[in-house]
Amino acid sequence: DPIATPAETLLAWYDRNRRRLPWRAEPGRRADPYHVFLSEIMLQQTTVKAVGPYFSAFLTRWPTVADLAAAPLDQVLSAWAGLGYYARARNLHACAKAVVARHGGRFPADEAALRDLPGIGPYTSAAIAAIAFDIPASPVDGNIERVVSRLHAIATPLPKAKTEIRQRAAALTPRLRAGDFAQAMMDLGATICTPRSPVCGLCPLDAGCTARALGTPSLYPVKTPK
Ligand code: ADE
Repeated sequence: DPIATPAETLLAWYDRNRRRLPWRAEPGRRADPYHVFLSEIMLQQTTVKAVGPYFSAFLTRWPTVADLAAAPLDQVLSAWAGLGYYARARNLHACAKAVVARHGGRFPADEAALRDLPGIGPYTSAAIAAIAFDIPASPVDGNIERVVSRLHAIATPLPKAKTEIRQRAAALTPRLRAGDFAQAMMDLGATICTPRSPVCGLCPLDAGCTARALGTPSLYPVKTPK
């Protein structure tokens, strides 16, 4: 096909440039939903680098969601020590119990059912649906928000722009490989489409990026002055 979509272009880039992270499956395979769940909860407000050792330690100690659900809460909280924001650890444990009680210990392959679990919001439900099940859901974190804002040079300031950003992200999401697409957007935001001094010369999407064409990528996303 002569004209590639942004998703096709980005997926080709991801196949060559994906970051190898502990919670990611081998290329061409889907990640375990429990691994995606655990990593996505840990990655809220904590860096990729800091999460690595905690992710591995949790999996060694509690290899399945049923093991985590059966653990005493105080042991989960002490294993969490150092990650901060302990409400996340309490929610993690409550969610593991709910997955066992409601779904027999298997995460549901359904965005709405995921969203109904304790501690799982719109971002996390979309991330698990896309990354673990390849459902064409669109998780929008800070990285993806920035990439989408720049691609479309969205002039509305945050947080008002969030609805438009989510719609734009959904419109970009491919029917196939939605999980790779979401993680490709995250990797692009983390390594090339960075908050300051984005490296547009290395970006696979530069030809279709409106902020790049305007010469002002760092102005996006626009924020209301505090
Ligand atoms: N940040 C949040 N989720 C992530 C993921 N799956 N890969 C890389 N960075 C992330």
